[in-house]
Parts: sequence; C-alpha cells; structure tokens
Amino acid sequence: SAVRQYKFDVVMKNATMLCSTKPIVTVNGMFPGPTLYAVEDDTVLINVVNHVNYNVTIHWHGIRQLRTGWADGPAYITQCPITTGQSYIYNFTITGQRGTLLWHAHILWLRSTVHGAIVILPKCCVPYPFPKPDKEVVVVLAEWWKSDTEDVINEAIKSGLAPNVSDAHTINGLPGPVSDCPSQGGFTLHVEKGKTYLLRLINAALNEELFFKIAGHHLSIVEVDATYVKPFKTDTVLISPGQTTNVLLFADQKQGNYLVTVSPFMDAPIAVDNITATATLNYVGTLTNTPTILTTPPLENATTVATNFVNSLRSLNSKQFPASVPRTVDYNLYFTVGLGLNPCPTCKPGNGSRVVASINNLTFTLPTTALLQAHYFNINGVFTTDFPANPPYVFNYTGTPPSNLQTMNGTKVFRLAYNANVQLVLQGTGIIAPENHPIHLHGFSFYAVGRGPGNYNPMTDPMKFNLVDPIERNTIGVPSGGWVAIRFRADNPGVWFLHCHLEVHTTWGLKMAFLVDNGRGPNQSLLPPPIDLPKC
Ligand code: C2O
Repeated sequence: SAVRQYKFDVVMKNATMLCSTKPIVTVNGMFPGPTLYAVEDDTVLINVVNHVNYNVTIHWHGIRQLRTGWADGPAYITQCPITTGQSYIYNFTITGQRGTLLWHAHILWLRSTVHGAIVILPKCCVPYPFPKPDKEVVVVLAEWWKSDTEDVINEAIKSGLAPNVSDAHTINGLPGPVSDCPSQGGFTLHVEKGKTYLLRLINAALNEELFFKIAGHHLSIVEVDATYVKPFKTDTVLISPGQTTNVLLFADQKQGNYLVTVSPFMDAPIAVDNITATATLNYVGTLTNTPTILTTPPLENATTVATNFVNSLRSLNSKQFPASVPRTVDYNLYFTVGLGLNPCPTCKPGNGSRVVASINNLTFTLPTTALLQAHYFNINGVFTTDFPANPPYVFNYTGTPPSNLQTMNGTKVFRLAYNANVQLVLQGTGIIAPENHPIHLHGFSFYAVGRGPGNYNPMTDPMKFNLVDPIERNTIGVPSGGWVAIRFRADNPGVWFLHCHLEVHTTWGLKMAFLVDNGRGPNQSLLPPPIDLPKC
C-alpha cells in the first residue's frame, strides 16, 4: 500500500454556462473537481486550503473512515469548518473498499460546484469480477443554476418555501444544447467499435434523482456505491444524489453518434423540472459530433422503471466478495423520514409557516461545536442522546395526513454500543408532497434487506427480508409513502451523520447522527484528533 498526497486549493473561478457567467467555488479551478485516485489499502492525505470567503469542509462520501471520523468532513458533525485562509489535511486509510465514490463539500450548498470522483482500484493482482474493460471513464452528473446557489437557498429559507430548481443538469460539466441556450456544448464520449468501456457514473446533483440512458446500447451494471453486484443488463440507470454506479458499455453497434440522456426522476405528479441533459456517444471514425441515433428519456414519474431497476440490484456475494449481512438484531429502529410545516410568522409571502423536514418528527439543529469534538472531549450541552427509536405518533403514512404537521427542534443523537447489529427501517411519510428520500449513512456500508410500498408491517415484512445477497451501499432511496429496511454492524466508533442527500431536505432538517461507542479491545476506539483539526 502507498501514501497518496493531494492538494485541494479551494478557489473562486468564473464559469460560463447556459450563455451566462458567474463566479463559482471550485477545487483547483475545476468543475467538476479533480478525480482522486487510490488503490485499496492506500493512505490518502488531502491538504485542503481555503482561499474563498466561505467556510469549507470536504466529505469523502462512502469512504468508511474506520476510526478516523475526524477526516469524514460534515460541518459541525465531525469537524468545525476550515475558515478563510486556513487549511486542514484529511488523512485516512482505505480499508477493504474498491470502486467508485465521490467527494464533495459538506457545508452550505457549496456541494453544487465543489465535488469530484474518487476512484479506488483493486489491490494488486485482484481482477475485477467482470470482463476487463479496455478503458475506464468517469462520468459526473450534476446540476447548474444560473444564479448563485447560496442565494437560491437563502431566499428559500427566508420565504419558508421550496427553493428554485436548477436551470440544467450537466454531464461532466456540460448540459448540451438547451432551449434558452442552443449553442451550449455537450460532453462527447469517444469509443472504438468492438471495445469495452467501464463508465463510473456519479450523481453529484444537489436535489435530483436522475435517469441515465444511451441510445441503442444496453448497459451492464457491475457495481454500486463501491460494492460489486450480480451483473444485469438494462437500458436505463437510476442514480440518486450521493450514489455511484459502474456500468460496462460494449461498443458493439454500427458506427455513428448516439444520444446520451440524463433526466430527472421525481415520482411526483407535478412536473417542476423536466430538463434533459444530453451528451454524445461517438464511434471513432464518425465524422460529425451530432447525435443522429436518438432515444427518449423515461418520463419524470416513471416509477415502474425506477422500481424495476432498484429491485434488480443484488450484491455479488461471491466466494471472494461475500455478503456478510447481520443475522441477529440488537437495535430495532423505526425512523420516519419526511416533510412537515412549522409556524413562521416572519416568512414571506406571509402564509405563517415554513417547510421543515424531520426524522421521527425531529428537525435536527446543527450545533456550533462539532458533535465529534463534544463527544471526544466530553463537552456538555452540545447534544443529547435521547433520539427516539420510534416515531412519537404513528399514523397511516399512505392515508390522510395528520392535522398537525409540526415538528420539534433539537440536536439529538442515537447511541449505539460497539459492534452491535442495527436494523433500521426508514419509513417515507410523503405527507406534504410525494417526495423520495435518498438517505445516506456516513461511516458504514449497509445492507438493504427489504423494501416495499405503503406502511411497514413489523409482523409480516421481516419474514420477506433478503439476508443472502441484498445490495450493500451507503445511500438508499426511500420511496415516497414506502419503506426500506437496512442492517449494519456498528463497528466504527465515532459520530456518524445520517441524512437525506437531497440537499434541500438536509437544509430543512432531515438529518440525525449516530454515536458509536468505543470497543474495549485493541484497535476498537476512535483515534485521537489530528493537530490541525479546525477548532470550533
Ligand atoms: Cu455525500 Cu453527508 O454526504
């Protein structure tokens, strides 16, 4: 194993997109940011230097951070921000992981432009469990607003209403031609006939689940969230913010230019954002760059396409890459995830309420001291450990919404004993709008053992759980008015954020944290903080 060093200079940069120019926050002046390459078992040191007038933190999404929570990155959860002029070296070792992940800013809405790929290659001489690709290509999907994204969210907070949706989606930083800017270019993927390509797809968008499709080609899914899966063929990939998906593309069609589409999946009856980003799959030797072989993206509310895709995912569970699903359960938790309404006399346009989001009716308030520091140094008064294991009021989540949608505010964590097995059922409430929630857990990969529409039934549903080859991942889509059940072993001491990866829902409070105690044995406790950890 090697030590890899990176320098991330956080700098402003003028970017022209959709025929207009604005300054954006970037890493090393790039959008998307630089790809971080490493090999399984490597130690990675990234020196993040803040040259902008925002506070900054960076999260290495999906990296387990075994005993190194100090390098995880969510602001006020594991660290205080790197202030202007400061720097911090994120220092972690990649343990038992290989595949595609992403890194992104984890403060404010800076993630909109501060993100990039993490590519972890298998350690020496362990081949991929699928045909060796001739070439690998990182494909980062994101969103673009013509206005400043901090203004977008600040206006929404002031009004209590939903923020403006993005003006375009992007594929490796480019939306392709759109109606109000037909000259806007798109990304081109050049392929040679007869060769095989590994596409490392990443959804770095703030607020959109996305469909990915290539005209005339089937894609073979081989990995999600840095976990190998049983390969299956599909023509449409569904990918939620924070998720990554590796697909094999066989360039086995006749020469030409094929349309690539990236379009939103809403699962909502209201079409608020139907902008499709386009790219070109170009067979080398084809003269122009204009796609002539076309495809139609799925409809925005193509729930069946989405469900079929999700239901096809199984972990590979081979001899070499076994699934080790917890068989017993020490903590049986049931969390509702959804939106609510709290009173807000000052909210414009003065309807007297603001949209909030909650888990078990608790709208999480970020503290001003990082939870991990408060935990490690025994600082009192920062958080309490009474996060509820069950919702305070149970009702029919697919029926009439409760008359009172109000939530409580608080900074509460749920405390887990070291090495305990956790089963967590995430129940989507969908009581204000039929919204999906891609829920991300820091510090762990979990197994998604069950999923269903409607209300979770604790008597009958567990009998149908897949404990053999369920998909293992770090971000899972909770369907609107439906549920998913996940299991993981609490073998990573520290404080670990759990939140919706739709950034607007995180802002509104759809977040909480687990506190995992140290174990008693050697190598079972959180390591001490690095000396340059930003102080609160
Ligand atoms: Cu990718 Cu807490 O986020």
